[in-house]
Amino acid sequence: MLSEKLQNELNTQMNSEFFAEYEYLSMAAYFHSMNLDGFANYFHVQSQEEHFHAMKIFHFILDKGGKADLQQIAKPNTEFKSPLSVFETALEHEKKVTKAINKLMDEAISENDHAVNSFLRWYIDEQVEEESLAGKALAKMQIIKGQGEGLLILDQEFAQRTFAPPKE
Ligand code: FEO
Repeated sequence: MLSEKLQNELNTQMNSEFFAEYEYLSMAAYFHSMNLDGFANYFHVQSQEEHFHAMKIFHFILDKGGKADLQQIAKPNTEFKSPLSVFETALEHEKKVTKAINKLMDEAISENDHAVNSFLRWYIDEQVEEESLAGKALAKMQIIKGQGEGLLILDQEFAQRTFAPPKE
């Protein structure tokens, strides 16, 4: 049985993951409109990752006999200053998610809820990967100053990314 507080916080995190799915999909659309299909693929795959993150919480809440409280998903940003700014936003977003997961874990620990604690460990490990991936992509964009022929080279690299459900 989840406490009301943990259930609410898990639902908030689930909504935030669905919103991230939207945000990354919007970034994919932005790059698609620039004919940078590899970049679009990178963010499309990222949006699929976020969907997986959201659904994992959804199923956990249900498995615990709780209420998965689906809420409205906010409209994502659809205007971007530059390709480089998209990657800056992505890294900032992942840092915020890490903080939110850590806060959730703090609550699980303070309530001595071992099941939620165990569940959240997966997210803590996943966020190390998420921040690393976003950080490396941003660093590459900074090397090419977010423009020029470098974009085409990175476009080829990002075209290779595929979605595979993360290890449970
Ligand atoms: Fe669901 Fe990118 O963290």
